[in-house]
Amino acid sequence: MIALSGINKIFKRPDGRQVFGLKDINLEIGQGEFAAIVGPSGSGKSTLMNILGCLDKPTSGQYKIKGQLIGDKSDKEISAIRNKEISFIFQSYNLLTKLNAIENVELPLVYRKIPLNTRRTEAYRALCQVGLQDRMLYKPSHLSGGQQQRVAIARTLASKPSVILGDEPTGALDPATRNEILNIIKDLVALKGITVVLVTHDMDIANMAKRVIKISEGLIIEDYKN
Ligand SMILES: Nc1ncnc2c1ncn2[C@@H]1O[C@H](COP(=O)(O)OP(=O)(O)OP(=O)(O)O)[C@@H](O)[C@H]1O
Ligand SMILES: [Mg+2]
Repeated sequence: MIALSGINKIFKRPDGRQVFGLKDINLEIGQGEFAAIVGPSGSGKSTLMNILGCLDKPTSGQYKIKGQLIGDKSDKEISAIRNKEISFIFQSYNLLTKLNAIENVELPLVYRKIPLNTRRTEAYRALCQVGLQDRMLYKPSHLSGGQQQRVAIARTLASKPSVILGDEPTGALDPATRNEILNIIKDLVALKGITVVLVTHDMDIANMAKRVIKISEGLIIEDYKN
């Protein structure tokens, strides 16, 4: 599903010095895998996630998603691939405050120009999957943090991605809500064969993943299966 080979990312600091964000990363993550990326602050986790999510390009090396070589593509082609294959779970949920729950869930389908009827049906189905069918007309401000996170997950489901990426997606939640959300994610992985890659500082969460990838100073230093 995801294949990185020889990925380097070099940043220029304001003083002109170069910093390595990532050094020679070689990594394959298969369809349906649930992988956690762990490592100290500044080790390159977000840099890696930005590349996986096609939000940033590596300085050198190859990234393939579903066999498609990203480096060869135009920005327009890359956004099309991102819209179709990838969904992000954000710590801040990224829900639009003016839209109600079902409209928020529909949003990725609007961008893909899916007709209204189909969109509504898909969004409703996704809200049912996370148990929020009775809250579909609520705006985010009238939902609890956990419910907002569920809306965000429903939005992810409705867009039927191949890959779900999250950079500390549960970081802002209390422990009980966090566990609830992780159980939902785990069920979804088992159910649909979606590839999930989450960055986390929390070893409890990492232990829930099938695979743990440890990064330090831009290098993969450990890669093991739970
Ligand atoms: N746009 C940028 N310009 C310059 N340096 C950057 C940039 N983005 C990241 N870096 C540097 O690259 C390294 C890796 O940063 P990254 O954000 O990937 O760390 P991280 O593992 O996500 O850390 P955290 O756990 O604190 O979120 C750091 O040394 C950081 O200062
Ligand atoms: Mg980070």
